[in-house]
Amino acid sequence: MGTFSIRPMTEADIDAVMVIENSIYVFPWTARNFQDSLRAGYALHCMCLDEVLVGYVVTMNVVDETHLLNISIRQDHQGKGHGKHLLQWSLTQARLAGSQGMLLEVRPSNVSARALYDQQGFKLIGVRKNYYPAPEGREDALVMFKRFNSVLT
Ligand SMILES: CC(C)(COP(=O)(O)OP(=O)(O)OC[C@H]1O[C@@H](n2cnc3c(N)ncnc32)[C@H](O)[C@@H]1OP(=O)(O)O)[C@@H](O)C(=O)NCCC(=O)NCCS
Repeated sequence: MGTFSIRPMTEADIDAVMVIENSIYVFPWTARNFQDSLRAGYALHCMCLDEVLVGYVVTMNVVDETHLLNISIRQDHQGKGHGKHLLQWSLTQARLAGSQGMLLEVRPSNVSARALYDQQGFKLIGVRKNYYPAPEGREDALVMFKRFNSVLT
């Protein structure tokens, strides 16, 4: 089974992060996007299995809300519960930091991510038209929000 850990991302992780990022997205973040996020003070964390990177999550706090900017699991580790674990960890961190809820955007075509967010209690609160670049033209973004209860459960 191995040992899982979640730890802060550093600049030294970005090469390994980019290998995953480039292999799972048609429109990946750039190394610069990760560097800028680190320098802006966003929360970037790596999920490792026996020290090997299997995923990462990026969030940003805006007033009393946490925005989920990137959550990714290496292709050959997807579908094994790691994304759920990383998202639940991130939700707990956000609650502990005093956030009132988590906001995210997702492509309507991203079936697995949408299933994960539905399952974790995110609700559709809006649509941003033509938000994402797509292979043919643009794609809308679904905006989803999960409001936290006042009590940690
Ligand atoms: C989306 C992503 C983070 C999910 O992580 P994962 O480890 O593959 O997902 P998990 O195994 O934790 O699955 C969690 C839940 O998501 C849903 N799910 C995952 N893969 C699915 C699939 N292929 N089809 C339908 N539902 C799926 C299920 O509801 C699952 O819950 P269950 O196992 O209790 O049924 C991961 O697939 C990924 O990195 N995808 C590419 C990058 C991406 O699209 N990120 C999100 C951008 S908004």
